[in-house]
Amino acid sequence: MLKVKSSKKVCVTERFSIFYLFMEIVITDIKEIECITDALILPLCEGEGPIPYRDIDSALSGLIGRVMSSREFEGRHNQIALLHTPDDIIGPRRILLIGLGKRAEMTGEGIRQAGGKAASYLDSLGFKGVSLSTRYIASLMHSPTVFIEGILLSLYKFKKYRKEDTEGGIEKLTVLGRVEDLDRPIRWIEAVSLGVNFARDMVNTPSNDMTPTALSEIARGLAKDKVSVEILEREDAEREGMGAYLSVARGSMEPPKFVVLRYNGGNGPPIALIGKSITFDSGGISIKPSEGMEKMKYDMAGGAVVLAVIKVASEYELPINLIGILPAAENLPGGTASKPGDIVKTINGKTVEIINTDAEGRLALADAIGYAKKFRPRVIIDIATLTGACSVALGSEAIAMMGNDRGLMDKLRSIGDETYERVWQMPLYDEYREYLKSDIADIKNTGGKTGSLVTAAYFLREFAGDTPWVHLDIAGTAWAEKEKPYIPRGATGIGVRLLLNLLREI
Ligand code: BES
Ligand code: MN
Ligand code: ZN
Repeated sequence: MLKVKSSKKVCVTERFSIFYLFMEIVITDIKEIECITDALILPLCEGEGPIPYRDIDSALSGLIGRVMSSREFEGRHNQIALLHTPDDIIGPRRILLIGLGKRAEMTGEGIRQAGGKAASYLDSLGFKGVSLSTRYIASLMHSPTVFIEGILLSLYKFKKYRKEDTEGGIEKLTVLGRVEDLDRPIRWIEAVSLGVNFARDMVNTPSNDMTPTALSEIARGLAKDKVSVEILEREDAEREGMGAYLSVARGSMEPPKFVVLRYNGGNGPPIALIGKSITFDSGGISIKPSEGMEKMKYDMAGGAVVLAVIKVASEYELPINLIGILPAAENLPGGTASKPGDIVKTINGKTVEIINTDAEGRLALADAIGYAKKFRPRVIIDIATLTGACSVALGSEAIAMMGNDRGLMDKLRSIGDETYERVWQMPLYDEYREYLKSDIADIKNTGGKTGSLVTAAYFLREFAGDTPWVHLDIAGTAWAEKEKPYIPRGATGIGVRLLLNLLREI
């Protein structure tokens, strides 16, 4: 028997407790029928009857088989049946059958969703201790850990602002299977899911609490042995010449914080991760319509991903070097705000004509990219809720990806398919340079509506130069309007699983 972890509320800083619901995970090789638990989850394929669990079925005098032939449960994907077990016959008080669909059509994502579905169902019934039989999924040449990933991701709740929300939930998950096969993969999946839920908490937190200062304090809380955190104040950023980034913060009373994290876990040049960290985007003087503006607290989702990735990478001790940069600011239309037509100077000396103060993300990112280049990174990856056009193009099904490093983009594409944080590449044709030509400055910050997903990225490309660089636009995917089996409404934490799995592979 192996205990993996037990934590409920994690204090990252004194002022900002982050609640990411977590439970104790125990891995053990005892038999299902001997496991004392509120509910035992048995995944099943369509059209195969109770065969994989013959021993359990016969202990229950054929109950599972009877349910499956009654058509109440056929094993269709995400189909559920909850069975009461007779007193004292077997350990589990309930059996939850969860359908995986037809064996031939089964995918990792299908299994992940089934995990989410099963867990949120049991959670809604108030069960405290649940267990999962892994032997059947393992026999199908799939890893049971994706099912567990679905469980951990689906149980996330944003609990910070309502007293009644702070209690309840599944407290213990017992995983039944071969300990030596499950231990390492479950540790990884647990660390990653913790990271996703950490990011979700930061993004769901409203902008009056999740200010640039708050973000910088959370970053400071991640400092430890191999992680150093530096925070550049407004004057420091001025000294560095980050005029574009600073122009975004001019209209707000919240001071900008340019956060730089360094994780030294390996050798060689670092990978630089830059996350857009606009804690609220009103649009500035080019103000947005009020309808839906409340959602613009999620304009720091990229920064949350970077913090989560550094946290998990350092706790898991990935053997790599990372730089994390969060150019945090609030975009408001105060009396000192920058105005359309203003010209600002970036860290690398290029001047930018601000046509639209709502195209603020690229201003902050341009200086962050310029700053990242000082570390001579082997690659820069930026992740940002950059354009409304991203969700126009791809809805909430894929991250838009652009960049100048084909190898890395191919890698991200395949990891995206695996994690189901899918990415889709968009072009960066040289012709887009025309769209951003200014009459009086080196470049302007928007080329208007047409092609605005790609011209935003093209703007960044001008600052990346010949440093290998990939841009991920998560505007369409970082916030879920509709829940999915393991993604509750609100912040999704997208990007955390994608980037952590990328980093683990390189
Ligand atoms: N943060 C927004 C992009 C966004 C919009 C994210 C909706 C999530 C949901 C970004 O700063 C922005 O306002 N972009 C503008 C650019 C335009 C002015 C060229 C846009 O896409 O409308
Ligand atoms: Mn904007
Ligand atoms: Zn924005």
